[in-house]
Amino acid sequence: MAGACSGKVLTSGKKPFLDEDDIQKFPYFKAVIKETLRLYPPAPLLVPRETREKVTIDGYEIPAKTMIYVNAWAIHRDPGAWEEAEEFIPERFLNSTVDLRGQDFCFIPFGAGRRMCPGLNMAFATLDVVLANLLCSFDWELPEGMKSEDIDTEALPGLSQHKKNPLCVLAKCQM
Ligand code: HEM
Repeated sequence: MAGACSGKVLTSGKKPFLDEDDIQKFPYFKAVIKETLRLYPPAPLLVPRETREKVTIDGYEIPAKTMIYVNAWAIHRDPGAWEEAEEFIPERFLNSTVDLRGQDFCFIPFGAGRRMCPGLNMAFATLDVVLANLLCSFDWELPEGMKSEDIDTEALPGLSQHKKNPLCVLAKCQM
């Protein structure tokens, strides 16, 4: 990722920070964010719904006034929808039209339909820019003796996902 911005954008002295326009030129960076949201959706069960009337889906009869939880976490890891579903492979999004705006029901980190997340655009405007600038401003390393396989991705139980154990990384100033 460092290679994405180690060129003139940051070093020419004209532009100390990356902005949204710069980030549009980093498709792999965007794919990494998508793949992270696929495997670790912050709201794995979305927001609960209630059926207004009796419906039948795939032969299952669901009575009116049933509380419905949509398990986005399980949908995102469905081997019927994703190749090597449990693996972190950002490349899967590079030549793919699958997007997270609620049109592709296999990938719904912001939900779908009328109650989908209204903060999607704001989330992206901040997440992309903050993360890209953090990556470009420092050299990141794991603490001595720790390998990338040792990174603990376990989450605490709850309606929103929080890391069980904090990630410890070293940010080194670039010379
Ligand atoms: C990466 C960041 C975010 C993720 C992954 C996320 C995800 C979600 C999800 C999954 C839902 C439920 C949608 C559904 O059930 O269909 C939701 C709802 C909501 N989100 Fe976000 N969200 C994010 C950021 C934000 C931000 C930045 C805001 C506000 C500035 C926001 C405001 C809301 C609100 C108000 C709702 C409730 C909408 C409703 O029930 O009508 N979210 N979000």
